[in-house]
Amino acid sequence: MRIRHLVALLLVLAVVGVGLTFLQARPLKPTDAPPASSFAPEAVRRGAELAAIGDCASCHTAPNGRPYAGGVALETPYGTIHGTNVTPDPDTGIGRWSAQAFARAMREGVDREGRRLYPAFPYSHYTRLAGGDIDALYAFLMTRTPVRATAPENRLRFPYGFRPIVIGWNWLYLDRKRFRPDPTKSDQWNHGAYLAEALGHCGACHTPRTRFGGEDPRAHFNGGVAEGWWAPPLNQTSPSAEPWTADGLYAYLRSWDAAHGGAVGPMAAVTANLAGAPEADVRAIAAYVAERMGPPQPLNKARRDGLMARAEPDGSRDPALARGGAVYQGACAQCHATGGQTPFTVPSLAQHTSLFGPVPDNVLQVVLHGIRTPQGAAGPLMPGFADALTPAQVADLAAYLRARFTDQPPWPDVEAAVRRIRGQPSQAVPAAPVDGAVQKALD
Ligand code: HEC
Ligand code: HEC
Ligand code: HEC
Repeated sequence: MRIRHLVALLLVLAVVGVGLTFLQARPLKPTDAPPASSFAPEAVRRGAELAAIGDCASCHTAPNGRPYAGGVALETPYGTIHGTNVTPDPDTGIGRWSAQAFARAMREGVDREGRRLYPAFPYSHYTRLAGGDIDALYAFLMTRTPVRATAPENRLRFPYGFRPIVIGWNWLYLDRKRFRPDPTKSDQWNHGAYLAEALGHCGACHTPRTRFGGEDPRAHFNGGVAEGWWAPPLNQTSPSAEPWTADGLYAYLRSWDAAHGGAVGPMAAVTANLAGAPEADVRAIAAYVAERMGPPQPLNKARRDGLMARAEPDGSRDPALARGGAVYQGACAQCHATGGQTPFTVPSLAQHTSLFGPVPDNVLQVVLHGIRTPQGAAGPLMPGFADALTPAQVADLAAYLRARFTDQPPWPDVEAAVRRIRGQPSQAVPAAPVDGAVQKALD
């Protein structure tokens, strides 16, 4: 009986597998790369700006690698996926891709030869892009220096190496509607909504994912995860003590905000790119996100004032808090208890949303690995304490910070999180104002 079931199951799987293979999309004819001179300079420039807002380089330019030549390893719950070479090299890049093939990849997640692309490439957001903007991105990429480079093979767990399963994912999560402006809102809001939802793919990190790896539409912007970091909510569920305003968001998205500090994890790459994008575009994104965050409430002000004046927790009742408080005095207070006078610190740690999150991960990333600023740039600096403090000391310290600066319940399992994050390579690179990023991309 068992064997019969097994055989039946194998047969069904084989039929489904063969069926799905035939569901490969149509290959599009290879073309010769259009000469660079065939693209209007304005299209190339706007393409550079859009590429900055869309963060294309984060996944397509390897650290110390040639621009857009691929090879960036992206760790996902399904295995490692590599950003590919999107320079116009005819053999290893997109040199033989027509504008039509490029637009299909951006909108449907299908490569020129008809293979399904993995949704680690955020085409489920880019699908909302306007045609003119896709053409500008194509003009920008096709005028880059061609580089001969092939990304390493993906390493995916069974059965994710089988690309046609993406058809199922698309059926569940790919909504191929273009962005439609909301006539009840201002032009600036609509422009910001378009940039944030389509190109900026903010929800890819800031929206929680379902079991099948799609963004949960009922929890849009409720907070998510990215590369071992917590991406805080960008709506009214934000636990931040400091209310976010359009001006504060604009400052944060471009470099550093006096009320919240700056980005220090995966968000740092986003802000480094936005620093070089046109002001009007970033202002529009800020206006849109500010509206999602909701207007600052009088209630927020009372909560905020209470948190800024919060008393020391009672260490006599909990020895862990007493030990954590001692570490804080010895290792942290010289910079953080100075009322924001150390360069790039805010007056109180209670101003960092990371202390209010459901997990201690961001705080532990920063405490263990520190904050570095790219050489030659002005920006925050904080030493990492992975070697100076034991895991137990870091766990006590995190518990103390949570009790001292927030109104949230203690974090569960801090020690396990310390061990997990200690083992990860340091990713703490802060946003330094990178003026002229767009110009540099064009040179
Ligand atoms: C979060 C990471 C990420 C971002 C951001 C990203 N890409 Fe990609 N992209 C990928 C990955 C990963 C692949 C390969 C997917 C696969 O192998 O199935 C890819 C594939 C592509 C492809 C298909 C290339 C090929 O060889 O099949 C194109 C074209 C592309 N990306 C363009 C862009 C553009 C333009 C942007 C910016 C607007 C961008 N990508 C932003 C991760 C990203
Ligand atoms: C040499 C000065 C210095 C020391 C010492 C220091 N920090 Fe920092 N810390 C900074 C700066 C600068 C920032 C960046 C503030 C910003 O721009 O957001 C920062 C940021 C932080 C953040 C916020 C990270 C985020 O989510 O954005 C936390 C939490 C933090 N520090 C905790 C600590 C703890 C705990 C210690 C002691 C173990 C410590 N710091 C020691 C300078 C320091
Ligand atoms: C690659 C993932 C990723 C993308 C894409 C991304 N973010 Fe973030 N964002 C994060 C993470 C992680 C943090 C937490 C802090 C950090 O990394 O420094 C963060 C922090 C933030 C914060 C600070 C929130 C707070 O309360 O402290 C804001 C605001 C923000 N992001 C806005 C945006 C906007 C707007 C976009 C789209 C234009 C965007 N993010 C795209 C990952 C991302």
